[in-house]
Amino acid sequence: MYDLIVIGSGPGGYIAAIRAAQLGMNVACIERYPTFGGTCLNVGCIPSKALLESSERFAEAQHHLGDHGIDIGEVSLDLETMQARKEKVVSSGTAGIDYLFGKNEVEGIHGWGTIVDANTVEVTDDDGETQSLETERILIATGSKPIALPNVEYDKKFIVDSTAALEFEEVPEHLVVIGAGVIGLELGSVWKRLGAKVTVLEYLPEILGGRMDSEVAKTAQRLFKKQGLEFVLEAEVTGAEVEDGTVTTTYKKDGEEQTIESDRLLVGIGRRPFTDKLGLENIGLETNDRGFIEVDEYYRTEVDGVYAIGDVIPGPMLAHLAEHEGAVCVERMNDIAGHVNYDAVPDVVYTHPEIASVGKTEAELDEAGVEYKTGKFPYKANGRARAINDTDGFCKILAHAETDQILGAHIIGAQAGDMIAELAVASEFHGSAEDIARSSHAHPTLAEIVKEAALDVEDRTLNL
Ligand code: FAD
Ligand code: NAI
Repeated sequence: MYDLIVIGSGPGGYIAAIRAAQLGMNVACIERYPTFGGTCLNVGCIPSKALLESSERFAEAQHHLGDHGIDIGEVSLDLETMQARKEKVVSSGTAGIDYLFGKNEVEGIHGWGTIVDANTVEVTDDDGETQSLETERILIATGSKPIALPNVEYDKKFIVDSTAALEFEEVPEHLVVIGAGVIGLELGSVWKRLGAKVTVLEYLPEILGGRMDSEVAKTAQRLFKKQGLEFVLEAEVTGAEVEDGTVTTTYKKDGEEQTIESDRLLVGIGRRPFTDKLGLENIGLETNDRGFIEVDEYYRTEVDGVYAIGDVIPGPMLAHLAEHEGAVCVERMNDIAGHVNYDAVPDVVYTHPEIASVGKTEAELDEAGVEYKTGKFPYKANGRARAINDTDGFCKILAHAETDQILGAHIIGAQAGDMIAELAVASEFHGSAEDIARSSHAHPTLAEIVKEAALDVEDRTLNL
């Protein structure tokens, strides 16, 4: 009899299993794939960041090393080696989870988990062998899957989701991407840098679909256009067909039907919660109208003893959020205080420049009728940004008009994903813009941009 069975070994599930074991629970973590780590480690965060890094270095060598007086002659691409490096990064991560499970005495079991009742999970392995496991509690951490366009099937070669777009063996000539969301922009950037023509079709009038502050999104679009990404906004894709290796994608724009041809089509229109063949019907647990499992603030479902976290519950689909929810969920099971402050969860897009945010956007504050002050500072006025030749972008801090509490922070620019951490911690502590402005920031660092933006909340920047 286990104290806890976790179904799914993504960042939500594996972290929950480890934390539960640390707290003395007897835990099993079930994963239907041959490696642990879920979407994030196997086909998501990690392989995409490996390719983003490699492609950025390629672009740097091609276009920018000359600015430093470094002449390396003609630069060529060895995609096979680039892909092999990515695979190594992934496999070292999945091996790391095997090690962590061993160290923490989590029993990792490979096979498809099906809930039979609130205390029984059946696991069926690839050979069809089934074992029945008894448990006090069940934690569902089964994650998400890409959404498909109606009438458009992924063939994994010409019409692909993010997983297949991480595996291309050749650089596409022309990659059409549906969706200017995170996947479209990150993977669009990878293949553009490696030499493809990239056209992004987006239903909304803005890229990053309201996920990021509008001023940041507009700046990002301008910078990506400069890098050669092409955008067709307010374009609703309605279908796609492949003939003789050419994909014809149909979309509606300005009330008219139009088509675009390419050799590859990447569909990045969002992800759906994954609860297929999980056996929710056996415990009478229904999903909401969008397929998510609803939970309370302690991640309890409406069925006693059954919990859920990560992409399978409503909220942003982010690896670090799934981890956080996983840890808090099992800590609450053990009567340890804990909560997730959803206003202090950073969100990062790993393009170049990076885009990062925490808390509310200006549009959200306007809609809620909250009075706020704005502080902003550009990268080009920062010494380190000039030294590293990376001067595009800015940091913007939104602070409450009366209390000065930080309500939102938005950065577009080099290392934005690391710089946002300071503002996430400040938000968690209900910190003020003045707290940041009065804290010492090393010189010369990009972090000084954050300090100057905080000073600008009171109109007192020192270097602009
Ligand atoms: P998942 O990671 O999806 O894991 C769920 C696991 O459950 C899977 O391994 C699945 O096989 C298993 N499973 C499902 N059903 C069963 C069953 N019945 N029995 C056994 N096992 C089962 N997020 C970020 O924060 N930063 C990023 O940079 C980032 N990059 C991304 C890039 C891409 C291309 C993609 C697709 C996603 C990215 N994400 C990123 C999102 C991130 O991957 C997810 O938010 C995160 O993986 C969710 O974690 P999870 O534990 O909820 O689920
Ligand atoms: P997304 O929700 O970020 O973007 C999808 C985009 O597709 C939206 O802008 C939407 O308007 C557009 N769209 C939908 N239907 C369309 C149609 N028919 N025609 C044209 N455009 C259409 O989803 P995405 O990029 O697929 O990412 C899925 C999830 O994965 C996200 O929730 C994200 O959190 C996660 N992820 C996170 C990353 C990160 O944190 N850096 C990186 C990659 C993915």
